[in-house]
Amino acid sequence: MQHQDIPHRPDWTIDQNWEKYTSAEHAMWKTLFQRQSEILKNRATPEFMDGLGKLKVAANGIPDFRRLSDILMKHTGWQVVPVPCIIPDEVFFEHLANKRFVSTCFIRRPDQMDYLQEPDVFHDTFGHVPLLIQPFYAEYMQAYGQAGLKALKSGNLKKLTRLFWYTIEFGLIKRKEGLRIYGAGIVSSKGESIYSLEDTKPKRIAFDLKRVMQTDYYIDRYQDCYFVIDSFEQLFQELSQNLLPIYDELKDKPDIPAGHVLPSDRKVAA
Ligand code: CO
Repeated sequence: MQHQDIPHRPDWTIDQNWEKYTSAEHAMWKTLFQRQSEILKNRATPEFMDGLGKLKVAANGIPDFRRLSDILMKHTGWQVVPVPCIIPDEVFFEHLANKRFVSTCFIRRPDQMDYLQEPDVFHDTFGHVPLLIQPFYAEYMQAYGQAGLKALKSGNLKKLTRLFWYTIEFGLIKRKEGLRIYGAGIVSSKGESIYSLEDTKPKRIAFDLKRVMQTDYYIDRYQDCYFVIDSFEQLFQELSQNLLPIYDELKDKPDIPAGHVLPSDRKVAA
């Protein structure tokens, strides 16, 4: 059965059926987990590594979302809820606005170790959940859900989705030790963890909300540009303002192709 054909509740949730995972599926998780934990040392932001350490139930196999939720609940009041696949925007935002992070349940096949286009349980859980243990990031994610519901109503979803892409999925952060990764799309990818920080090809540009909202992206290959934040507080503050005047200002401005550099961009050294 295709993932999108799995029967679900009206809010798109399903049962994870954790007891039904095979030992091969748990072994695949463990391989990915160990490989990424090693690669991310001195590459991922310390808040991510700290969160990963606190989610000990995730180290030995595909985690039971109920146990992950017990830990998250204590720190930030969030839960992880199982869904079959990428779900409709409105349902997704509604979950985030109510502190429910949706995760797929299936795990990639051995021939998809290094790349798969649709998110699996490793991307969703390993990639996204460790930072949800950090209060300032959890608040940003909730604010994103609220902003998403508003953007849907005002017809500005495309601009807001670019913010998700360039922060929650592919964001970099400047730390005193150097550039670090926090985006889930990067931390869950062996190749992009190295490429995003160390390759000379991609542009690394200081985060600017309006600039990000104008910038296109690719979903099927490594990114041509990354945006670098100074702190998670900066992200939350940007999203806490009224976005309508910003959407309005950008309404007639052209999209910026991924990888283009503007004279006004502040480049960040790798
Ligand atoms: Co993701």
